[in-house]
Amino acid sequence: MDRSVRWKVTAPYSSSMRLAHLILLLLYFHLSSSRSTPASGPPQEDLVEQKCLLRNYTHHSCNKVFCLPWQKCIEGTCICKLPYQCPKDGTPVCATNGRSYPTYCHQKSFECLHPEIKFSNNGTCTAEGKFNVSLIYGNTKREGIVQVKLVDQDEKMFICKNSWSMTEANVACLHLGYPQGARGIKRRFNIPISLRINDTECLHVRCRGVETSLAECTFTKRRTKTPHGLARVVCYTQDADFPTSQSFQCVNGKHIPQEKACDGVNDCGDQSDELCCKECRGTAFHCKSGVCIPNESKCNGEVDCITSEDESDCEEGRQRKIHKGLARSDQGGETEIETEETEMLTPDMNSEIKRIKSLLPKLSCGIKRNTHTRRKRVIGGKPAEMGEYPWQVAIKDSGKITCGGIYIGGCWILTAAHCVRPSRYHNYQVWTALLDWLKPNSELAVQRVSRVIVHEKYNGATYQNDIALIEMRKLPGKKECELPRSIPACVPWSPYLFQPNDSCIVSGWGREKGNQKVYSLRWGEVNLIGNCSQFYPGRYYEKEMQCAGTSDGSIDACKGDSGGPLVCNDINNVTYVWGIVSWGENCGQPEFPGVYTRVANYFDWISYHVGRSLVSQHNV
Ligand code: ARG
Repeated sequence: MDRSVRWKVTAPYSSSMRLAHLILLLLYFHLSSSRSTPASGPPQEDLVEQKCLLRNYTHHSCNKVFCLPWQKCIEGTCICKLPYQCPKDGTPVCATNGRSYPTYCHQKSFECLHPEIKFSNNGTCTAEGKFNVSLIYGNTKREGIVQVKLVDQDEKMFICKNSWSMTEANVACLHLGYPQGARGIKRRFNIPISLRINDTECLHVRCRGVETSLAECTFTKRRTKTPHGLARVVCYTQDADFPTSQSFQCVNGKHIPQEKACDGVNDCGDQSDELCCKECRGTAFHCKSGVCIPNESKCNGEVDCITSEDESDCEEGRQRKIHKGLARSDQGGETEIETEETEMLTPDMNSEIKRIKSLLPKLSCGIKRNTHTRRKRVIGGKPAEMGEYPWQVAIKDSGKITCGGIYIGGCWILTAAHCVRPSRYHNYQVWTALLDWLKPNSELAVQRVSRVIVHEKYNGATYQNDIALIEMRKLPGKKECELPRSIPACVPWSPYLFQPNDSCIVSGWGREKGNQKVYSLRWGEVNLIGNCSQFYPGRYYEKEMQCAGTSDGSIDACKGDSGGPLVCNDINNVTYVWGIVSWGENCGQPEFPGVYTRVANYFDWISYHVGRSLVSQHNV
């Protein structure tokens, strides 16, 4: 029946009946509209940030997560390293092509480039039997009870249900050739009576979730027999899927129940269900960058959050162990690991990853030598002391200090585009370790400039892309720039390292309130401000700019501070140059916060010009 006809029929109804009909109709529209836009569903969906989902982040998105040690981060994506870029130390491993590799990293890097050749086992390749996974008692070949045959064992064995989660199931399905991993681990199968008894022998397995073969996971056997079931799985295929309004769509195309998003478990297999979270469910740990990680990853000796807060505030010697069955004593100072009941059956590739990570080259930046951080209360900025801002430089143009700058390593200074012109490079001088330019201190050093690079999209009218690089001249016969008193600030590689309301520090020789001249370096604490378009409608570009200030406006950058640093410290007190002083309406007015160039947005631009190894702290 057509709706217009229905309205005619309702016309002679009593008004109360008509009202009832109207409510039903409204309900109908409400239900059907909420079906097409899952965002208006139950409150739990508010855990995911829709704007972030549009970016399709996965475990390969290095703005959100660290790349694996055999990958490097290029323009926000983890790509394969070449095997020779791996650390040399390690034990040999064997791949499915029958070739041995000097380390796990070498093999994984080769696999990254040739996905069909996977990890087979630890040690050199011999004629020993192969690792093998199979599913039995299922109705189709993509489901069943999980059976494995380990390399040095003749018999196939079952896996215990209590050590089996979506993490392991995803790896098993990937191993079996289902690229989207597992669909679920709950379906029941008809298994022979003999297997239904509780003490059928089974193995425990633990995966990270990033493995491509179950052989890379760690298998253990427990001596004590506890009642259990056997691990089972249904692997995911698109044709057997029934997405509903309540499902979350993974970037790899798989649909999972909405309530599995942001629970710390990588249900999708590509981690896309855990990367855009305002909060996390249950006991999962929420990284500041919006990522949910399992509670077991907290204080496990390996940094998971890009902002590393999962490994801070950990009591020494009381690291929680990853393996479920390994108990932790609740009282008393020490961690007790019950090793006697667990037998390792395969090498631990998880700790191999940790070891490889520790062997990767490390960048030194953002750490002050003298760590006497005496924090003073500041109103309108306080004078700086020697060594407090070792990355701060002054830029002199024809003898006058015109701008600030930030030392980022090598011979490179970061500054604002509006401070410099490439053609005038010979007029510039970079003054390092300067405090007061009326009373030059002995540590002071003066550098001449060999080149100025202004961002090619710098717009002098809108101040978009207000960023430039200054290359300092090396002394004759020297290969490096020598700046004995300077320490580089780290360049932020991800826009998620710091968030609105984080407290950061601006410094410079710019004007004080009332346009008062300033001769000594001053600094002030300001907060990052989100949503800045409300202060500068039509002039603020979120991706490229960052506002910072205080609620009363009492602390701000001003004329002459341009090009200087807005630095933020991470949880380990490592300093990042988050902003470059760029512009602002007047100075020190709460309704007009200071606007800074958002340096994280220019990481690739900077690393292109200065060289990746100078600024790539992780994922080199
Ligand atoms: N453009 C100014 C300069 O040349 C920096 C202004 C910063 N203003 C502010 N209110 N934060 O020094």
